[in-house]
Amino acid sequence: MTEPAAKPSALFQNYGRSDVCFVRGEGVYLSDSQGRSYLDAFAGVAVSTLGHGHPRLTQAISTQAAALLHCSNYYTVSQQEDLGRAIVDAAFPGRVLFCNSGTEANEAAYKLLRLWGNLQHGGKKTRIIAFQNGFHGRTMGSLSVTANPKYREPFAPLAACEFLPYGDVAALDAAFANASDIAGVFVEPIQGEGGVIVPPAGFFARLRDLCSKHQALLVVDEIQTGFARTGRLFCHQHEGITPDIMTMAKGLGGGVPIGAVLATEAVASLMKPGMHGTTFGGNPLACAAGLAVIGEITKPGFVASVAARGEQLRSGLIALTGAGKVRGRGLLIGVQLAEEPATLVKAARDEGLIVGPSGNNTLRIAPPLIISAAQIDELLEKLGRALKRV
Ligand SMILES: Cc1ncc(COP(=O)(O)O)c(C=O)c1O
Repeated sequence: MTEPAAKPSALFQNYGRSDVCFVRGEGVYLSDSQGRSYLDAFAGVAVSTLGHGHPRLTQAISTQAAALLHCSNYYTVSQQEDLGRAIVDAAFPGRVLFCNSGTEANEAAYKLLRLWGNLQHGGKKTRIIAFQNGFHGRTMGSLSVTANPKYREPFAPLAACEFLPYGDVAALDAAFANASDIAGVFVEPIQGEGGVIVPPAGFFARLRDLCSKHQALLVVDEIQTGFARTGRLFCHQHEGITPDIMTMAKGLGGGVPIGAVLATEAVASLMKPGMHGTTFGGNPLACAAGLAVIGEITKPGFVASVAARGEQLRSGLIALTGAGKVRGRGLLIGVQLAEEPATLVKAARDEGLIVGPSGNNTLRIAPPLIISAAQIDELLEKLGRALKRV
């Protein structure tokens, strides 16, 4: 059994970490180095789609590791072809580019907006729009389209981006009043880091219309919301719109690092050989994991069961905390608190429940999507006890 690292740590201190060290996982449960068991209702920030130690995922990874771990993108990678096809089939027609993380997927999307402006529109489309309170990652391009000053300011100067209030149709209309220079818009279908904010009905339809009318690309960031998390395969499907570009990561690999971009043919075809790439992007191991995850979540009944468990969780939380405080869709749920969630997160952990924070004093609950009805009841019971403590 691995013991937690002895202090002093040799690591950068860029995370506010707890001393708890998980050493094993099974289904929705985690065990720590002291032998304590926890119900995991955070899934490593919406990553462990199939929970821990899922037989199909474990088998896929070990079989692939034994056959071939890695080869370069100078050669055909059949697992990449298969996973690309599976993503297109689950989402919308286009082509897929693989990378290793969410922020890298958004970097590639950012570069596609530049190609759109430069190659397709003679350098005339340079403006990029994103939303206040949004989050798209920590590398310089993704950070440029992330609004939160806490993340941005230490790393200024960043590339220019215009931030509009999320969900505000009037602000959209105003920004697009003079729109010939807008290259594209980055948007989350639910703001996951910003407090689990669901946009009002009609916002996405209007955004889609405006982007289409003005030939601006709509980039939908499904990094947190994708792969059945919200009770549809992709969250934008609730809105009845189709993006030009969709970025993905987190839940796709079920715990193995992988990111991806899906873009329509018109956009993807702007990226010519040699223009972009990454050594590990779409390596056989990561793609084998992605194929196992997609294979499971596209089984008949899987997505419907996420939606049903989400409803059960939502009504249980409303009973615990009162109406008006519970937001989200499917198994991505936020509970509005009066203060920062750290105290409640700790109290829940003491009760054997892992939950996490989100922005704006919000508690975030995002369990593995395989969670059962009885386990949702257990989650609610543990959270109820933690709420009584704080
Ligand atoms: C919506 C969204 N976009 C991008 C990212 C960045 O992904 P990664 O941490 O894999 O770089 C995140 C991570 O939380 C996210 O929630």
